[in-house]
Amino acid sequence: MLRAGRDADAAGFIALIRDCWAEYPGCVFDLDAELPELRALASYFAEQNGALWVAEVAGAVVGMAAVHPLPGTPDWEICRVYVAASQRGTGLAVALMEAAESHARAAGAEVIRLWSDTRFTRAHTFYAKLGYVRQGPIRVLNDLSNSLEFPFIKPARGVAVQALDASAAEHAERPLADILIACVAAGASVSFLPPLSAEAAQGFWRRSLEDMVLGKKAIWVAWTDGELVGTVTLDLAMPPNQPHRAEVAKLLVHPEARRRGVGQALMTALEAGAAQRGRRLLTLDTRADDAGEALYRGLGWQEAGRIPGFALNADGSASATVFFYKQIGGA
Ligand SMILES: CC(C)(COP(=O)(O)OP(=O)(O)OC[C@H]1O[C@@H](n2cnc3c(N)ncnc32)[C@H](O)[C@@H]1OP(=O)(O)O)[C@@H](O)C(=O)NCCC(=O)NCCS
Repeated sequence: MLRAGRDADAAGFIALIRDCWAEYPGCVFDLDAELPELRALASYFAEQNGALWVAEVAGAVVGMAAVHPLPGTPDWEICRVYVAASQRGTGLAVALMEAAESHARAAGAEVIRLWSDTRFTRAHTFYAKLGYVRQGPIRVLNDLSNSLEFPFIKPARGVAVQALDASAAEHAERPLADILIACVAAGASVSFLPPLSAEAAQGFWRRSLEDMVLGKKAIWVAWTDGELVGTVTLDLAMPPNQPHRAEVAKLLVHPEARRRGVGQALMTALEAGAAQRGRRLLTLDTRADDAGEALYRGLGWQEAGRIPGFALNADGSASATVFFYKQIGGA
């Protein structure tokens, strides 16, 4: 269905992009003034050592995507992702993204980046489903459309962890809710009982992400091979007499991504982030005999004690909780 784009596809690219922009009020399409490269787009990306794909139905261009390396960095950028309205929901957009991502991965990309107009909200949901998170400041294009663009990133391969920034608020709600729901369904003891609704899970993350924006929490996420699979939160809102302390919460790794070092990578990033913030004493609690208990012990956390019957399980029984602490940063 996909093939390499050619310069001769120009008319199709121009029509497709013009139609997509026309869906958004205020988006001005001026080929000569702002998009002359569309007349020879394959050459344009070839000069940047990039690649271009096209999807056709009955001889008409219905989808496109391009990718190119970002000079001086190990990162690649995906751009020009457009799918005709008639082809949305067919899997074409995913196929285009996969073609671009595999190309970048094979070429050694460490991080895959893309920019998306702040008005293209449908695209933002789509990128979230593919494991991208919004990160970094909006850019202002000063073009005819007065475009503002959000940056999105995802690490291309292996286990990778990043701290979320304020840009991720709202956008990260759904993917984080999906991980929480999957963990609770698999029996995790993390404040909720199954079945956890999407509304409740998203509401929880909305509040947490708001707290992150306010500096009351820090949140990390983890990927394995470009898929968003884990998260951990550091609660920084401590009483005035405990400014050196912080609490670990919601260490979650999707059940299908466990025992690959994701939990450990999240905790390592969290401890480094806590030390940077001058938090020298960390505390947490976890259900006795859970995977978390082994993980924390392996990372040098000290048991402070356990309380029997602390939290309920899905079947109504109660389990003990173990309290742990760790001194970090040479305290
Ligand atoms: C706890 C949790 C985050 C671990 O995530 P993970 O990505 O599987 O952990 P890692 O692969 O980094 O494991 C690191 C080490 O911890 C220990 N460990 C992790 N899971 C374990 C398990 N089920 N049994 C025994 N040891 C385990 C092992 O020593 C492991 O190293 P190894 O795989 O080389 O033996 C995950 O099981 C989870 O999300 N559980 C549900 C939520 C939860 O209970 N969170 C803790 C709340 S405080």
